[in-house]
Amino acid sequence: MAPLPVPFWLLGWHLAAPSAWAGAGGRAHGVLPHGLGPTVVTPSSLLSVRANLIPSPPTFNSDYGYISWEAYANVSYYTRVLPPVPDNCPTPMGTKGKRQLPDPQLLAERFLLRQKFEADPRGTNLMFAFFAQHFTHQFFKTSGKMGRGFTKALGHGVDLGHLYGDNLQRQHQLRLFQDGKLKFQVVDGEVYPPMVTHAPVHMVYPSAVPKEKQLAMGQEVFGLLPGLCMYSTLWLREHNRVCDILKQEHPTWSDEQLFQTARLILIDAGAALCLTHVPACVLTLQIGGTQTINANVLQVAIGVIKESRQLRLQPFNEYRKRFGMKPYKSFQELTGEEEKAAELEELYGDIDALEFYPGLLLEKPQPNGIFGESMVEIGAPFSLKGLFGNPICSPEYWKPSTFGGETGFEIVKTASLEKLVCLNVKKCPYVAFHVPDALENGSPWGDGPSTEL
Ligand SMILES: *[C@@H]1O[C@H](CO)[C@@H](O)[C@H](O)[C@H]1NC(C)=O
Repeated sequence: MAPLPVPFWLLGWHLAAPSAWAGAGGRAHGVLPHGLGPTVVTPSSLLSVRANLIPSPPTFNSDYGYISWEAYANVSYYTRVLPPVPDNCPTPMGTKGKRQLPDPQLLAERFLLRQKFEADPRGTNLMFAFFAQHFTHQFFKTSGKMGRGFTKALGHGVDLGHLYGDNLQRQHQLRLFQDGKLKFQVVDGEVYPPMVTHAPVHMVYPSAVPKEKQLAMGQEVFGLLPGLCMYSTLWLREHNRVCDILKQEHPTWSDEQLFQTARLILIDAGAALCLTHVPACVLTLQIGGTQTINANVLQVAIGVIKESRQLRLQPFNEYRKRFGMKPYKSFQELTGEEEKAAELEELYGDIDALEFYPGLLLEKPQPNGIFGESMVEIGAPFSLKGLFGNPICSPEYWKPSTFGGETGFEIVKTASLEKLVCLNVKKCPYVAFHVPDALENGSPWGDGPSTEL
């Protein structure tokens, strides 16, 4: 478990899996999920054009390079927009390039490893990195048992399985079965996730951590990093807070109806946070062109390269074509420089044999941006399809009664990061996805705690 080495939506071929569109007659649902108008600058028509680059129904997967019923119906597969490179091709990438791909360790150390610290010029902070990691781990859950091409997150999208568990049994272990709430514990007067001894679910912790010290959360691996525990704690408090509000409005509702309605409200709030903050934030992540991967997580990058070979991902240039971009003609054109380009040429032999992941990270930054064109052009359609394909975006769902009336509807329409934090902690701190602008405000904490709730 390490901070993501790429913007999360990039790994997103997963997002287009069946349930993201199944209820929609093969289309994205087409209604904006909440008050997106003022915050998302791109017109919705442009968003849906982009989302349409992702096929629905889904097409290929790692075992099926042709349309098949199994690929459609077996939702344990991650779906893919391009079929795998066929077996028995002349070279690992098809017909181009060398007979042997470069050593992943060498690739990572020479081209991806961070050489010196460079602050993100736009000041994106850890609060954002952990938000992204927490959010994406609800749908990026590769199955260790079934293999690299399979996911455990059968909801294939924003279902908050990382809060509620990815199956009913786990959900039930995490629920209090009272007023719709989730189990919790109180430490120093504040609410936290329960211990595993209280909510018996499987969690992944280092073997030295005894059960009495393991927190029980929806996602198995969230005990491994403090930032993930923090977000789990905030969402847990938010769920129980929403349950209290719903119960006040509907004193006769069962535990089940309170739980289910609170879950829908939180799903929408989660999607809203992602949609309203992520376009601004993701675009500020400095990834492309420069080497930014910390030595401690280099193994993750190496793992990604190895996995992409097992999955027989097609070359970077093929993905560029699939998403409406021109294939690069040379490594110089890709990197915008000479030195690394020459080394890459030596290693790969042909620009058309360059692999997907190194291609994304080594692409020269856009003129007024800080990372390559392919990041946005390939990544954005997946996130948009995943979000707009959610049932809460359908006209059937998008109305007050779905959320328990106007009060619940108002919660989803006005969701924000600041509210998620400040309605659930005793004292409202500095809350943002960027470091405080010290120059502008004269103090590292800006204008002090915001009151704009
Ligand atoms: C999906 O496919 C895998 C691989 O063939 C198989 O092991 C699994 O049982 C399938 N799942 C279902 C629900 O059929």
